[in-house]
Amino acid sequence: MASSPLLFLSLLLFAPLALAGHGPSGPPVPHGGPLLTRSINLSLIWYGPFGRVQKRVIRTFISSLNYNGGANLEPQVSSWWRVVESYQSFARPGPPGPAPPINVKVVKQEVDINFSVGKVLTVDFLNILAQKAAAGTPAGSLAVIFAGSGVTVQGLCMGKCSIHGLNGPQPYLVVGNPEIECPGSCAWPFFPSDYGPKGVILQPPNKNVAADAMVIALASGLAETVTNPFNNGFYSGIPTQPTEISDACPNMFGSGALPGYTGKVRIDPATGGAFNAHGPRGRKYLLPAIWNPRTNSCYTPL
Ligand SMILES: *[C@@H]1O[C@H](CO)[C@@H](O)[C@H](O)[C@H]1NC(C)=O
Ligand SMILES: *[C@@H]1O[C@H](CO)[C@@H](O)[C@H](O)[C@H]1NC(C)=O
Repeated sequence: MASSPLLFLSLLLFAPLALAGHGPSGPPVPHGGPLLTRSINLSLIWYGPFGRVQKRVIRTFISSLNYNGGANLEPQVSSWWRVVESYQSFARPGPPGPAPPINVKVVKQEVDINFSVGKVLTVDFLNILAQKAAAGTPAGSLAVIFAGSGVTVQGLCMGKCSIHGLNGPQPYLVVGNPEIECPGSCAWPFFPSDYGPKGVILQPPNKNVAADAMVIALASGLAETVTNPFNNGFYSGIPTQPTEISDACPNMFGSGALPGYTGKVRIDPATGGAFNAHGPRGRKYLLPAIWNPRTNSCYTPL
């Protein structure tokens, strides 16, 4: 009997995981493997046609990770990124030390406008694209493949909107496009949810549902690639179906989140768009919750 309040509490804490299609496997813990550190060179493939506005929204998000606009701009995308950087301090036993910055930059990008390997991306095709992205870049670059509208990616939807893998020793990341594929799973809260309550629908901060939803998926995917690049970093559950640092906090964007409710966000009076973080040049973004190893709880900017 003595343990039942604890059991009840942990059921409450991890109940949202079951909704997202992942086992209730608890908070991510280190498994001794390396994380990505210091600098990350991204090689982007726009797989299919993308509008200039969409690319600019996503590119500016990437540059916002290391952008500090000062106290007046809080909450900032870079504050969210510092939580990802903090994992470096928790990868080894002992008291956590300071975590050095992780600088992210784009070293190459190409457009694959005619879907060179087709519109259904299985692991074999993803490896071909990751290989193509790596060509001509510094060793150790991270390939990021942005799926064009209507591209199906193996393993995406049903709670996963981006997925990272390994092409040989090299990590890569694929970001799904919810314009046609599973918007009810990957475009919420800008589109009615397929899971549980439909929830409150919010306007996207950059007025582009696909681009703003892909920023959420890219942010989750980058956070998970950095903290579990070789499948032996931070996760819980089984290695082939891990609960990683963003999976542990599904469908949460602010404090007080509940199924169907994002939690606290701000609304830009000029556009009506919902956001929780500032980037450079007046850009605003809605960023997903990630597990915070320092507080042992889900972190959101607001
Ligand atoms: C894409 O396909 C169209 C139609 O088949 C063709 O005209 C065009 O040259 C192709 N573009 C590239 C970059 O391959
Ligand atoms: C990123 O590229 C720069 C050259 O542009 C290189 O000096 C650096 O080592 C690269 N970083 C990694 C982690 O490979």
